[in-house]
Order: sequence, then C-alpha cells, then structure tokens
Amino acid sequence: MALLEWSDDLILGEARMDHTHREFVDCLNALGEADDASLVGALDRFIEHSDAHFADENERMEATGFPPSHCHANEHANVLNLCREVRQMVIDGKIEVGRVLARELAPWFTQHAGSMDNMLAYWLNLDDAGRAEALRISQEKQAEMRAAMAARGEEAEPAMSCGPGCEH
Ligand SMILES: [Fe+2]
Ligand SMILES: [Fe+2]
Repeated sequence: MALLEWSDDLILGEARMDHTHREFVDCLNALGEADDASLVGALDRFIEHSDAHFADENERMEATGFPPSHCHANEHANVLNLCREVRQMVIDGKIEVGRVLARELAPWFTQHAGSMDNMLAYWLNLDDAGRAEALRISQEKQAEMRAAMAARGEEAEPAMSCGPGCEH
C-alpha cells in the first residue's frame, strides 16, 4: 500500500509546486515500497528530489520576500539533515530506522504542504500589489495582536515572526 495517496487535498493551485509535490509523493511511495536491498538507493533518490524541491521553494521565497521564509527554510533543512543521518544508519544496518522515517514523512508532508507550502503558494500567486497588500494586512493584524497582548500584560512575539518557537 502507498504511504501517501495523491489527492485533491494536496493541490495548492500553484503549478510548479503542485508538479514538484506529485514527484515528492512518487519518491516517497517508492521509498515505502523499496525492499531492504534497494532502500539506500530509494533514499538517495528521495534526498535528491527533496534537495531540489526545497532549494526551489527557498529560492522563490527569497526572490519574492516571503515574510516567514526563515522558518519554512529551517524546516526544509531539518528534514534533509534527518534524511541524510538516517541514510547513514541504514548503511550501518539499521534498516528499521529507514522504515520509520519513510512512514513519518507521509504525515509530515501532509502537514507541511497544508500549512507552510500552502501559504507560499498563495503568496506566489499574488502579483506585487497583492503581496504588498497581504503584507500590510498581516502587519496590521500583528500590530492589533501585539496591542491586545500588551493590554493583557503578556509579552508579544517579535513583529513578523512565524509564531511561537521562531527565533527571528
Ligand atoms: Fe513543497
Ligand atoms: Fe516547503
């Protein structure tokens, strides 16, 4: 059985990202179907895909000034680092760790695509004027939230952060 079935829920409406995400799902399912002997090869293919996939999103965030780009790029880097560590563990004979990683990547991707990538797709589909307006609304909302928190005596997150846990 496939680890992750492609479904309309995963479509973000941004052609390049949707194309890349279909490829992600294919690579992930190939990883899930690999036998012990072909697991490292399937992991290599998955890492090669993810490297290009994440670099493309990172570059597009950079090029368009996507505000929460640091948290999104950090998540990409963490996943890639984890995959590389697990690849070495599989080579060292810990096959089961590779299986756990493959299983965990399916819910991770569903969550990542539905939140960070979804926001990015929305942003990429806007023109410059739309992005400026989205930024203005977001800054206005953040200012309102900060004022409400200050009124309650709570410490507010720094402006334009991605939320709790973001160190920017
Ligand atoms: Fe993505
Ligand atoms: Fe992403």
